[in-house]
Amino acid sequence: MSAPLEIVILAAGQGKRMYSDRPKVLHHLAGRSLLAHVLASAQALHPTMVHVVYGHGGDQVRRDLAAAKVNWVQQAQQKGTGHAVAQAMPQVADQALVLVLYGDVPLIRPQTLQNLLASAGPNSLALLTAELPEPGAYGRIIRDKMGKVSHIVESKDASPTEAAVREINTGFMAAPAARLKKWLAALRNNNAQGEYYLTDIIAMAVADGVAIETRAPQDLSEIFGINSKQELAYLERVHQQQQAQRLMNQGVTLRDPARLDVRGELICGRDVVIDVNVIFEGKVTLGDRVQVGPNNVIRDCSIGNDSIIHPNCVLEQALIGADCRIGPFARIRPETKLAAHVHVGNFVEVKKSEVGEGSKMNHLSYIGDTSVGREVNIGAGTITCNYDGANKHRTVIGDKVFVGSNTALVAPVTVGAGATIGAGSVITKTAPADELTLTRAPQLTKPGWKRPVKKSK
Ligand code: UD1
Ligand code: CA
Repeated sequence: MSAPLEIVILAAGQGKRMYSDRPKVLHHLAGRSLLAHVLASAQALHPTMVHVVYGHGGDQVRRDLAAAKVNWVQQAQQKGTGHAVAQAMPQVADQALVLVLYGDVPLIRPQTLQNLLASAGPNSLALLTAELPEPGAYGRIIRDKMGKVSHIVESKDASPTEAAVREINTGFMAAPAARLKKWLAALRNNNAQGEYYLTDIIAMAVADGVAIETRAPQDLSEIFGINSKQELAYLERVHQQQQAQRLMNQGVTLRDPARLDVRGELICGRDVVIDVNVIFEGKVTLGDRVQVGPNNVIRDCSIGNDSIIHPNCVLEQALIGADCRIGPFARIRPETKLAAHVHVGNFVEVKKSEVGEGSKMNHLSYIGDTSVGREVNIGAGTITCNYDGANKHRTVIGDKVFVGSNTALVAPVTVGAGATIGAGSVITKTAPADELTLTRAPQLTKPGWKRPVKKSK
């Protein structure tokens, strides 16, 4: 049986270069915090425990991830990566395998971590390393004549020859817990930064006869950390490009892959077409042949086969059936359920309502807290008056109702199936089925009436 996995996420850094009151790991990439991304990758590995080492803005960090099942470990003072990992170790089981992740390196892939874990064990330590043309501030991987890793030198402590090495330490590593505890306890901070370097355990492991295995990420974006708003914006673009590529690989047509933002999970059927400047948030499912026009914001929705979302709509928490037509300029608010073949046109707002098959509301309406039957026609300017200033009330509109333009339906109110409501009505009582109901004042003509004319002086 393999050792239980425990993951330590380092998230105590302040992120000075973000110039923000928010702790660095709480800044958002693709709609969720950096730390939430790392946590998702960690949880994909099914560890027995995740320890998050926090420091700066601890309360905010803990509040942000209150729902997450993690062991919070405080590092009051940031004395280096080795010191940070050491804070978690008293709560790590001796027989565990420990994986170290970074709260500010959000795009690490579970598959890469699996590869790393597969090469670590009771007598081996695994390092994720990468070749960079410009190794910059990263720690350098130093190998002996046989090509075996002997130690890591931080760039600030490196000699010119060492600094020229292009193989760098990404920071991700997996090591057996009992030995890791022993090495961490032996760390000293006599280096250029006066810190307890996690990287110094490599030489100790080598001295103990532990094999150092190295693995590479699939993609360099996986190892990029975020220290500034520029790096945050850069990684956001990289991530969005990757999602756009993934969608196109599945057959989705993107009018411009550079003008799409997926902040969550987007699941597409076959032959989906997405125009420019569309933002998807939360979990969105698009059926086969769905077309999404330009400038739409769609959050937590499911959209049925063959539906078309015309430009400039905002859709949130809605279930939209097959072959619907939405927009342009429509707003669909939470808890809305549209059956198949429903049309919601320009300047129509629908909230917490169910709309039956084939019904249409094409212009300038507010439909809230309403149940609309099948094949209903809601005329331009129809308003459901759902709020009396204190409470919300429901409107019920039966099948095949025709509501004339500029009607106010004062809830609670029912319009029976097949009823017709005359234009301009204010409906406050039940409108019976199959009858014409209207509250309009009768039209009147005064024959021979003349407009006043200005008196001459
Ligand atoms: C570290 C590595 C370096 C590697 C680089 C990759 C060490 C000594 N160096 O360097 O080899 O190339 O990462 O990015 O490990 N943190 C804490 N508490 C601390 C110090 C750091 O939680 O006391 C966290 C930071 O918030 C950050 C991570 O650990 O998420 C890395 O710390 P950072 O100071 O950025 O390490 P580097 O000097 O970049
Ligand atoms: Ca760093």
